[in-house]
Amino acid sequence: MKVGLNRGCMRSLIDVVDLTVEEIDELINVANDIIENPEKYQEKCKGKKLATLFYEPSTRTRLSFTAAMMELGGNVLGFSEASSSSAMKGESIADTAKMLSCYADIIAMRSPKEGAPFVASKAASIPVINAGDGGHCHPTQTLGDLLTIKREVGRLDNLTVGFCGDLKYGRTVHSFINALSRYKNIKIVLISPEELKLPNYVKYEVLDKNKMEYRETTSLEEAIPGLDVLYMTRIQQERFVDIDEYNRLKDSYILTVDKLQNAKDSLVIMHPLPRVNEISVKVDDDKRACYFKQALYGKYMRMALILKLLDEAKKNPQKEQMYNLDEVVFDKFTCTNPRCITSTEQELTQIFKCVDKKNGIYRCIYCEKKANN
Ligand code: NCD
Repeated sequence: MKVGLNRGCMRSLIDVVDLTVEEIDELINVANDIIENPEKYQEKCKGKKLATLFYEPSTRTRLSFTAAMMELGGNVLGFSEASSSSAMKGESIADTAKMLSCYADIIAMRSPKEGAPFVASKAASIPVINAGDGGHCHPTQTLGDLLTIKREVGRLDNLTVGFCGDLKYGRTVHSFINALSRYKNIKIVLISPEELKLPNYVKYEVLDKNKMEYRETTSLEEAIPGLDVLYMTRIQQERFVDIDEYNRLKDSYILTVDKLQNAKDSLVIMHPLPRVNEISVKVDDDKRACYFKQALYGKYMRMALILKLLDEAKKNPQKEQMYNLDEVVFDKFTCTNPRCITSTEQELTQIFKCVDKKNGIYRCIYCEKKANN
């Protein structure tokens, strides 16, 4: 289920597929130009304000958004934890987004609730960027990941990409696979424990629907030799209901210098960071380790994205239409995902979208969980 935004209207970025491949190429070109000619961009956002609304911990994403706006000559306001916002008093996401539309020109929002930035984008009169929603998606991390591959490998097609670790809750993985599904000849290797396999909505709606070649394995050692890119991830402790399960799974995969012996010379090792124990620090000296560069590239892509969305908001200030009414049903099902924004904001209309007419499959428009029908 892809939300998809109406062209010709003010744009937000909720899911990576809200951008076309051509638009992603354009962002990559702008990011490369920023890297080459930073001085050209240092006043582009003069007088503009970015609001960073972070209801969940973050180092890289929030600070790279902040650095991005500062390097464009703009200003930043916001909060970095829910406890210092009116969310503590029970303010809804929609009300907060409406308020912020009076104070800022663009919003970057992170929330533990899946679909929260989507709700904000419907209420705000300024562009909203999803900076990570629960275990769902993280499109701006993906933009930085794509620039990393483009610069380090030189291409975005004909690649075998291995994802290792927490593929169930790792939102960076979900968004990245979605983005890769639009390039040619991508082979995906999913390396995870049984308990942390890729969710079905990514498997069915992205890999299967796009007829992508993929396989699942539990062995990192077995997968490594065939990979062009290895994307390591942290086991997402904060999403586990059962802490004993987390403790059992937390050190499932540790990339060491030894394990890299059979890897390609040209392998690109990525990690969205923070790393907990998944990559030995000794690997940092390997020329194939790209995770710190990846964090830097994320900042340049966020700069390019802020420029694009502000420019489009200026050209097309009118709001997008709400939904394609042919595809959605209102209050017919109730989402059972405890991480969905509808679980805490009970006044939100339950909206489900039909993703498979033949088999009558509907998915929640906020978090993509399948309806129990
Ligand atoms: C990731 C996230 O928040 O999903 N971090 C980030 O934004 N770079 C990955 C993680 O927390 O494991």
